[in-house]
Amino acid sequence: MYKITPAMGWNSWNTFGAAINEKVIMETADAIVEKGLDKVGYEYVVIDDTWSLRERDENGRLVPDPEKFPHGMKYLADYVHSKGLKFGIYSCAGVVTCCGYPASYEHEYVDAATFAEWGVDFLKYDYCNRSEGTPGHLLYKRMGTALASSGRDILFSACSWGADDTMVWIKETGAHMWRSTGDINDSFGSISALIRQEIRHMQYNGQGCFNDLDMLVVGMNGNGNVAAGGCTYNEYMLHFAFWCFFGSPLMMGCDIRNMSDEAYEILTNKDLIRINQDKAGRQPFFLHKMEKNPVAGGDYYAQYDDYVIALGRYLDDGKIAIGVFNISDYKSNMWPSMLLTEAVGVPEPSGKTLLMRDIFTGKEEKATNGLYNMPCEPHSCRIFIATVVDK
Ligand code: GLA
Repeated sequence: MYKITPAMGWNSWNTFGAAINEKVIMETADAIVEKGLDKVGYEYVVIDDTWSLRERDENGRLVPDPEKFPHGMKYLADYVHSKGLKFGIYSCAGVVTCCGYPASYEHEYVDAATFAEWGVDFLKYDYCNRSEGTPGHLLYKRMGTALASSGRDILFSACSWGADDTMVWIKETGAHMWRSTGDINDSFGSISALIRQEIRHMQYNGQGCFNDLDMLVVGMNGNGNVAAGGCTYNEYMLHFAFWCFFGSPLMMGCDIRNMSDEAYEILTNKDLIRINQDKAGRQPFFLHKMEKNPVAGGDYYAQYDDYVIALGRYLDDGKIAIGVFNISDYKSNMWPSMLLTEAVGVPEPSGKTLLMRDIFTGKEEKATNGLYNMPCEPHSCRIFIATVVDK
């Protein structure tokens, strides 16, 4: 399925791991609609690994575990569809999945047909336990083609963790999104490590095949299958804002049924979702190199590609999103080596400047002399929507 904006939804893995069942999935679908998360764009409800029996049936078909899913997958898909949502499932390009359940290698066409019959709209396709002889691009081409010819519109979500230079070949396969990273966990260490790794892949993101930075941990607060201590409000906001800025798919991972108000506020931030879902799907770019400020007593100014990341992104309506992501432990005062306006294509002699709207405070202010000060607390972000205006 071709979709021009990053997929949004929920995936069972981060919170539930193997503890999934029909009830959890139905209650999650209910909660998505009750809380109005569908209204801001979240639409896919995806079941991750461990949903099937350990053996295929006599016709070589996958069988949902009857203890976890007593009414089968068609019933569940129908329920999710009745809520106006879409239904996703998981398989793997290997012989068995990462958790050791039967996977789709040499069963690509029968599995795609089965998923289509059940009413599946989204397939997450993992990369564990694969056969030595078949290269990754062929494994994903097999399933991509099987889905495309299955008779049903099924969004293809590749999950090969960036291995084997995924970014070079993944667009060939018909995938809507490609996982570029190892697994996230619910800690700021994990989030910041993924960010530092992925800023080198900005050029591989965009419409047609989005770079998937992994499911969100916003709102997990130290609980669930990928628990690792949890994060503060500001850290979760930075995490969500970066994923939005980057154009990553937004797959929530927390327990939607018991979501905190803070998590709700972050996950429904309209400005951030607007940046993420911008129709043009343009990649972000570095605003300028950060330098150490010789006169800033004590403040630390790391190199742009390490700890204080300043990005711009052109939006479809002519506005420019501007973000500062401070993943360091020190306050940053942003001492640019280049004028901010110049960095986004608005040179001083043009007579123009930027009207900066801070999306968190609502404050609007013009950049002056090409500059705008964007101090940023540690483990926090600043996000602006800039409009080009007369000086
Ligand atoms: C891999 C994936 C995860 C999750 C698990 C399930 O580790 O990267 O996102 O799907 O497998 O086993």
